[in-house]
Amino acid sequence: MAEIQEIGVIGAGQMGRGIAQVAAQVGIDVRLLDVDEATAENGVEQIAKSLSRLVQKEKLTADERAAILKRIRPSGDYGSLASAGLVVEAATEKIDIKTKIFRMADEAIADGAILATNTSSISITKLAAVSSRPERVVGMHFMNPVPVMKLVELIRALQTDDATYEATRALAVRMGKTVITSKDRPGFIVNRMLIPFLNEACFALQEGIGSPEDIDEGAKLGLNHPLGPLALADLIGLDTCLFIAEVLHSELGEDKYRPAPILRNHVAAGWLGRKTGRGFYDYGAK
Ligand SMILES: NC(=O)c1ccc[n+]([C@@H]2O[C@H](COP(=O)([O-])OP(=O)(O)OC[C@H]3O[C@@H](n4cnc5c(N)ncnc54)[C@H](O)[C@@H]3O)[C@@H](O)[C@H]2O)c1
Repeated sequence: MAEIQEIGVIGAGQMGRGIAQVAAQVGIDVRLLDVDEATAENGVEQIAKSLSRLVQKEKLTADERAAILKRIRPSGDYGSLASAGLVVEAATEKIDIKTKIFRMADEAIADGAILATNTSSISITKLAAVSSRPERVVGMHFMNPVPVMKLVELIRALQTDDATYEATRALAVRMGKTVITSKDRPGFIVNRMLIPFLNEACFALQEGIGSPEDIDEGAKLGLNHPLGPLALADLIGLDTCLFIAEVLHSELGEDKYRPAPILRNHVAAGWLGRKTGRGFYDYGAK
């Protein structure tokens, strides 16, 4: 497969923006889509701010920032994906949303193009089955924040062919990432370990075992984690954590994966973490 020159990213939230930024930083052209053009444009504005911070820290020149931004074009139209060699879906972690996006992208993209998903937990095999190109579907799971975190977890659907896997691996490496490969199981490798840990911290909070600060300090100083589990859940987004926990619970079918009620309540209240200004901690109004 020829080297990928242009990608599409569907979903201009925190992950989609990060993927778009890092791809553009290594010289790849990016089409960034969301529910409409205005939302995609807002995503590009957020990337512009993130790049400005890198200029302030002298990690990037103003000219480099301008060149990177020029490579990222916002859009609300699937037709704009026609020249992409790979399209990665990074929308909300809901199977009905991802299925709909997969069907639309499958119709819009070139015959040989790869359809990837950044899902944290949903079966890649199921998503591949709704497309007309199941052998060219793959899981490409970036970590948050994408510009900082070194890992990409690649997941082969049952149907994924070797050429798709290799081309996606080469793209991840070109984006400066280290790749691990997981079988297609709920939560793959990283979230199979992480989400039960975060969920257990929610139960500890709910039972009043410790304050949020005590729980997080326990993980930081006692386990040498850079961030405590409640602060990390706020960074990921409590809605995303709950969706992943629900997939683990329903697909693996064991009580130990049941989401903590306190997590459900925070999501019901719209306290989704950093992205809404409030989660287990208060980040000031958004
Ligand atoms: N947050 C994390 O730490 C993290 C890490 C790895 C992977 N992921 C995965 O990445 C994906 C996105 O997560 P996020 O944290 O960026 O969420 P987010 O809430 O920040 O962004 C989701 C984006 O998807 C868009 N969207 C919703 N429906 C859409 C549709 N039909 N078409 C196009 N766009 C649509 C929303 O408008 C929003 O911009 C999820 O699958 C999540 O599981 C998240």
